Amino acid sequence: MEYDIKDLSLAPKGELRVEWAMKSMPVLKLIRRRFERQKPLKGVRLAACLHVTTETAALMMTFKAGGADLRLCASNPLSTQDDAAAFLVKTLKIPVFAVKGEDHQTYYRHIHSTLDLKPTLTMDDGADLVSTLHTERRELLPGVKGGTEETTTGVIRLRSMAQKGVLRYPLMAVNDADTKHFFDNRYGTGQSTIDGIIRSTNRLLAGSVFVVCGYGWCGRGVALRAQGMGANVIITEINPLKALEAVMDGYRVMPMAEAAPLGDFFCTLTGDMEVIRKEHFLKMKDGAVLANSGHFNVEIDLEGLAQISSGKRMIRDFVEEYRLKNGKRIYLLGEGRLINLASAEGHPSSVMDMSFANQALAAEYLVKNQGKLGRKVYGVPAEIDREIARLKLESLGVKIDSLTPRQKKYLDSWEMGT
Ligand code: ADE
Repeated sequence: MEYDIKDLSLAPKGELRVEWAMKSMPVLKLIRRRFERQKPLKGVRLAACLHVTTETAALMMTFKAGGADLRLCASNPLSTQDDAAAFLVKTLKIPVFAVKGEDHQTYYRHIHSTLDLKPTLTMDDGADLVSTLHTERRELLPGVKGGTEETTTGVIRLRSMAQKGVLRYPLMAVNDADTKHFFDNRYGTGQSTIDGIIRSTNRLLAGSVFVVCGYGWCGRGVALRAQGMGANVIITEINPLKALEAVMDGYRVMPMAEAAPLGDFFCTLTGDMEVIRKEHFLKMKDGAVLANSGHFNVEIDLEGLAQISSGKRMIRDFVEEYRLKNGKRIYLLGEGRLINLASAEGHPSSVMDMSFANQALAAEYLVKNQGKLGRKVYGVPAEIDREIARLKLESLGVKIDSLTPRQKKYLDSWEMGT
């Protein structure tokens, strides 16, 4: 079996951590049990490019139980949990191509090794696998029947491909399911980003000024949790509606140029490039801490930062000190890559339970509906979304009301008013 991971001897540690994660993933467990019985993915060759974590290991176990032939690579050079990778390879015999800290060339070599499976189904987090397939491995495209995408950035890239007429097979935007982004993007990113910043710096958030760049679902989550830790939160935005929402949620909102001299911590979650750049670094306080929790490491302009710096050094794990030519020091966390996965463990299992339940059911849906879908980006069917919410509530022991016949009739009618 081909694979490329850091160290097979980490498998026992990975196994225990996967066991721990799975305790918080009851919805995925139900799906895995059904997949074991029904084998809905028999004959499927699945190429997955995801953050290689304990939660992803639980998802891979689900696909294997469903009968799929699999390969997995990392969707970010710094997000791999090497022990989870070792468990997948050694114990489950699933080929994994991922090493935490791999360089750019290795990252793409691993994507190619995963594509060597000649997939019938793809699973992506950020769309690097899909874009490699559509540019460098086009000979494989006729065999691919469908794919799924996990994250906002990837969905944006796929929509752009569909709009330009280059997308060659149906893709399902798992990110857009309500049971994904309401929870994973908001509460998952909220908690894990703060976790990553604290683990890497051990700084106190209480009383600090914390600048959140971007008030999408991820930014909302981080702002909420930073405020909960006692930080004074500032939001920067380019979208008037989101900015207005931030104002009414009680935050200060201002352009980056005004926030730059105020912040102790900065965290980017916009999906766009150069959100914090030279002109901003130059205005920052001595000791400002910069982190990114958006998918790619483009949000903080690292080239610009290097240009205005006279030197840099690692001062502790995941903390790089830049000495600016103006005499100030700026601290960059996790190379500007997603800090929640670089220096922490990503979203907690309980939210990944819903995200990955969507992945599993979306894959099953694509297989069942093979040949019926166009070269478009589809949403996850509402029935799947609702069923995942129902199962999650059940697993949490939360019961809810149901409509009485009179209430249902009332909602169906238009005649009844005041
Ligand atoms: N994305 C964010 N957190 C994650 C996790 N724990 N596992 C896989 N993908 C993730």
